Amino acid sequence: MARITLDVNGSAHTIDADPGMPLLYALRNDLGLNNPHFGCGLAQCGACTVHINGEAVRSCVTPLSAVGNGKVVTLAGLGTPEKRCSTATRSRPMRRSRTRSRGSNAAAAPTWASCVQSSARPR
Ligand code: FES
Repeated sequence: MARITLDVNGSAHTIDADPGMPLLYALRNDLGLNNPHFGCGLAQCGACTVHINGEAVRSCVTPLSAVGNGKVVTLAGLGTPEKRCSTATRSRPMRRSRTRSRGSNAAAAPTWASCVQSSARPR
């Protein structure tokens, strides 16, 4: 066990954890974040993807020791306080048309890919 400080979505969090523990477990179990998700646990599906210093990594196979002083950004950390990711995503025509064809309100949750695309655009 070690005392580890993580910068996640612009806030510092200190936890007691094994430095070999995957970042995903710290984000979900210690910090209580419900995103990223656990999918395969094998760096194959991308459900656990986060950014560390702007680089996409699979948090299920990234040990806490590899994070160091890196800035971790999850899906919830994308966007700005004025324009959250989910708002930008909902306004996209492609997203709206997919939602209509399904006939549901399932579009409320943004996808990682759509949020990265919308946050990469000039505002
Ligand atoms: S959970 Fe599938 S890539 Fe990490």
